Amino acid sequence: MGFATDAIHVGQEPDPTTGAIVAPIYQTSTYVQPEFGKTKGYDYARTNHPNRKALERCVAQLEGGKNAYVFTSGMAAIDAVFRLLRPGDHVVVSEAVYGGVYRLSTQLLNQFGLEFSFVDTSSIELMSAALRDNTKMIYVETPTNPTLILTDIAATARLANERGITLVVDNTFMSPYLQRPITLGAHIVVHSMTKYLNGHSDATGGAVILTREEDAEKIYFIQRSAGSGLAPMDCFLVSRGIKTLVVRMLQHNANGIAVARHLDAHAKVRKVFYPGLPSHPQHELARWQQRGPGAMLSFDVGSLEAARRLLDQVKLCSLAESLGGVETLISHPATMTHASMPADIRRSIGITDGLVRLSVGIEDVEDIQADLDQALLYV
Ligand SMILES: Cc1ncc(COP(=O)(O)O)c(C=O)c1O
Repeated sequence: MGFATDAIHVGQEPDPTTGAIVAPIYQTSTYVQPEFGKTKGYDYARTNHPNRKALERCVAQLEGGKNAYVFTSGMAAIDAVFRLLRPGDHVVVSEAVYGGVYRLSTQLLNQFGLEFSFVDTSSIELMSAALRDNTKMIYVETPTNPTLILTDIAATARLANERGITLVVDNTFMSPYLQRPITLGAHIVVHSMTKYLNGHSDATGGAVILTREEDAEKIYFIQRSAGSGLAPMDCFLVSRGIKTLVVRMLQHNANGIAVARHLDAHAKVRKVFYPGLPSHPQHELARWQQRGPGAMLSFDVGSLEAARRLLDQVKLCSLAESLGGVETLISHPATMTHASMPADIRRSIGITDGLVRLSVGIEDVEDIQADLDQALLYV
């Protein structure tokens, strides 16, 4: 079946007892056992439940993986992936990674013996030079948040395979509709489902999609041991969101292109970071690797003060963390999503004080542009 059909139907078979076309929300913590030593497939909701199983089947199918496991948030999913490693193992991570991943690795997981190097993964040479004998994982965000730098997934997969290293790709910014890392050689894909997969800003969630049985067994063990699996209601909400993923992504993509071009031509905007613009240094890679440039972009208005004035004046665009919902969100990475990153590192990777990030929603694009125009008058 095609991608849009799978998004609507996989895991969403009509309920066998009532015929309900939408699976019921199994809001229960435990399952009564028909007789000693027997279950009807479920025993306790931390371990598993039907809404989680349904969502996991769908997400695995959309990413082209063998198995998927869904978690309470993107960070819980990413934490589970790092727990595949053992003390003494080394990970190469994209330097402009989401601030939460930076915090998790440098302030928590490093205390358990894991070593992390932050590298410009847009360069295969730099990535290759950073590999050590104990490197067990390459963790890549492409495009990066919020600098929109790409990593060549296929080339990185070749490097990883030569050295027996696991390649993990965070596909949150693209969604499986715009980019499918497993088809390019990634071994594991992670998502913050809080973003495009859910798409409606009404639940948090994370996913780990796997290609190897041994990784899948370990991730499921971590999920049920740590109790980090996604709850029934949230699984229901994400499953509902996924049904419209294709139509939403088509509109997000079209609006993203239009807003990027509009800002690029604006006198108050110094620079726009967006893989869909020919001025982006990896525009050709984006055309090859992604089905479209997406709806995440950032732009520089020159200073913290200018950014503050802009963010205080927007009306339709909501000043908020997060991304990937139907509504346009605007944020200031240096003080919001990437505040946990030391200021010198932030600046060295291009997160300037004047950088503003936009998650372009699917409202009428003229309204988004008009709101940005009126706010830019104050910059
Ligand atoms: C690219 C990326 N990965 C992971 C996460 C973490 O996801 P969550 O907030 O669902 O824990 C985020 C959150 O913004 C993100 O932008």
